[in-house]
Amino acid sequence: MTTIAELDLPEIDLTGGALAGADYHRQLAALVTPRQHAWLARSPLAVIVLDREAGEFFLRSRATAFPGREIADLFGVTAGPLREQIDANILNQQGDRHRRLRALVGPAFTPRAADKWRPAMRGFLAGLWPAVEAAGRCDFVTAVARPYPSLTIAAVLGAPQADAARLQDWSGWVQRQFDIAALGSQVAEMERAVTEVYGYVEELLARRRAEPGEDLITALLSAEQAGDRLSHAECVNLVLNVIAGGIDTTQAQLSHAMRLFAAHPAQWAALRERPELLGRALDEVLRSEPITPFTARICVQQVEHRGVVFPAGTIVAVCAERANREVPGGEDFDITAERDGRLLTFGAGPHFCLGANLARAELEEALTFLAPRMPDLAADGPVVLGNTEGIYGVDSLPLRWG
Ligand code: HEM
Repeated sequence: MTTIAELDLPEIDLTGGALAGADYHRQLAALVTPRQHAWLARSPLAVIVLDREAGEFFLRSRATAFPGREIADLFGVTAGPLREQIDANILNQQGDRHRRLRALVGPAFTPRAADKWRPAMRGFLAGLWPAVEAAGRCDFVTAVARPYPSLTIAAVLGAPQADAARLQDWSGWVQRQFDIAALGSQVAEMERAVTEVYGYVEELLARRRAEPGEDLITALLSAEQAGDRLSHAECVNLVLNVIAGGIDTTQAQLSHAMRLFAAHPAQWAALRERPELLGRALDEVLRSEPITPFTARICVQQVEHRGVVFPAGTIVAVCAERANREVPGGEDFDITAERDGRLLTFGAGPHFCLGANLARAELEEALTFLAPRMPDLAADGPVVLGNTEGIYGVDSLPLRWG
């Protein structure tokens, strides 16, 4: 047995916002050269796990947890509204408590439940499209990718559509708790957003209590009213997790999808000509550009894997980007390739993304809507990428079509 500290591993700095675009893929690929322990690398705060089997092992292990509190401590976020939200976040819950929360909210996120929102999704796309149709060009992030997921989440929650822009803004800020650079510099903005969104959710719950509907909040309220199954604070926090986790994620993934297709016109043409490729096309987007390239775990007790000892307290960054590319031709974007469909994009194990079915439905509806309407899709200027810490977003994506 060797302890992780004894290994001579290549280093890469995942923090600082510099890692994005083709260079980010190249730098990560360069870490997986033939060498001993090629499944491991080091970054200033964490050990990086580069392959799928080991990534799944850490995500599924009962001896690990999401290190939200520990990372907040490192940055001095030890009290205040942001810290309260981090403490209450479902990602930072474990064991029975986590299982109970998932069981209560799970039925609202099955594939069938997600399908129920497809007509609404089509309606939102049809509503956004006329503003850009005639011009044949747009900044895709502003025109579609940003408003569309927040309209969808508003519908899922039973919130007014007029509130979608506010939900989008809050989601962006609250999700920065997963971005190390932001934890070091933007805590005040995040605290402002957390305070506002808590107030908003309380109001929304009060309104739904008075006027029940067919939405997620009404379902959660009935669990709250059924006795001790769901406390009020848990109910508020679940709604907040859906607002935070359900908007800028899908926004980022849809933006990357269209960026990839604009850069690979033959792939876009294939999807336009063969709509039956939709499922594979979406898997290929999720595989090749996961918007959560890294997620983290802390070893709550000593963990051993493949003869390496990870002492309690070790933080592990699981690299979905490398895990997903560990297939033949894995660096290529090819929607016609036969793949095994196993991805780490939505995580694995008990914290597997709650909204994966909803996100897939949203992305499928968007690609189905856009493909026939955007022939000869191409870039119309430089794309502005976010960074790969936290959620890997796209700030601007100028596109044109024929
Ligand atoms: C393409 C879009 C999305 C991607 C790539 C994504 C990715 C992820 C990943 C990787 C995790 C697991 C993190 C970990 O284990 O460390 C996760 C968890 C989660 N996601 Fe998503 N997500 C997406 C969309 C959504 C949507 C639409 C919702 C709305 C409900 C959502 C809500 C959540 C929640 C609440 C969790 C925490 C689950 C738990 O702790 O049990 N996500 N997501």
